[in-house]
Amino acid sequence: MPTQNIQPKIILITGCSSGFGLLTAARLAAKGHKVIATMRDLNKQGPLLSEVIHRKGRVDIIALDVTNKKSIDKAFETIATKYGYIEVLVNNAGYGIGGFFEDLTEEEIRSQMETNFFGVQNVTRHAIRFMRPRGQGKIINISSVAGFSTSPAFSAYNASKWALEAFSESLRYELKLFGIDVHLIEPGTYNTKVFHENARYAKDFDNPQSPYYPYSQHLKRKVMNYINDCHKDPEEIPALIEKLISAKNSAFRNIPDIESLVMYRLRKYLPFRLYSWIIQSALFKGIK
Ligand SMILES: NC(=O)c1ccc[n+]([C@@H]2O[C@H](COP(=O)([O-])OP(=O)(O)OC[C@H]3O[C@@H](n4cnc5c(N)ncnc54)[C@H](OP(=O)(O)O)[C@@H]3O)[C@@H](O)[C@H]2O)c1
Repeated sequence: MPTQNIQPKIILITGCSSGFGLLTAARLAAKGHKVIATMRDLNKQGPLLSEVIHRKGRVDIIALDVTNKKSIDKAFETIATKYGYIEVLVNNAGYGIGGFFEDLTEEEIRSQMETNFFGVQNVTRHAIRFMRPRGQGKIINISSVAGFSTSPAFSAYNASKWALEAFSESLRYELKLFGIDVHLIEPGTYNTKVFHENARYAKDFDNPQSPYYPYSQHLKRKVMNYINDCHKDPEEIPALIEKLISAKNSAFRNIPDIESLVMYRLRKYLPFRLYSWIIQSALFKGIK
């Protein structure tokens, strides 16, 4: 049952089998919105359903793989028949591949871009066609702290999120002409499956013959220690999405947590020479 009086919106979310997508779908459904929760593998809908039941909401679950045009066409056909249109799109589906550039294959880098960048474009293209004729709509893109800062061994992920940021910024101008808002959310680190079951590593990440081997192993330990010490509540992201959906004039760029805000300020205000020295020293200190 909805917990408060709201103007229910028809909301499409990608990547709802876990993490931010799952929590966002469950939260918005519990608030009374009509949530179309999508995931590429419907066999993974169990955890979402449990959460939705627990929060006393209702969601419509549809298969959608953001890299598969047929799957997207089919999902939007279903949505057109059932709902006629959507009012909000949350582009959440994504993953991150760890690995130094030379340890990554071209295919791994392309695949990262297919999901995090072209995947967003594939779904957005369809969504706009529902929103433009009505002269309203909101598109919320889940970027990352990695969308405005960079780190070693994340060049593919960094590139995909920087590309998403540039695309979103440009699209914002274009869609403003038709009453559609575009927003970015740039989270720091939250302990979700993206760092565990869904984590991916470069082909040669664990290859002792790679010249990067000692560095990649060192960084992996460092990152995993950081993640295991990270107790931020992932529900902060759905809460922010809910706010953006109901607000009239919200910011384009939204930074939900202190870690991301600190990185944003450092990157913006420090001379790059000093900023990059801090990153280099902090990440590789103590390695032989
Ligand atoms: N957690 C963080 O610290 C953090 C920080 C900044 C940004 N982000 C971003 O937040 C978003 C959600 O990540 P999360 O932390 O919630 O991780 P997560 O629990 O791993 O969730 C990722 C979701 O994306 C889905 N997905 C991956 N490839 C897909 C595809 N081709 N088509 C449809 N769905 C696909 C996954 O589905 P499967 O179960 O089928 O793989 C899963 O549902 C991502 O864009 C990520 O880059 C996360």
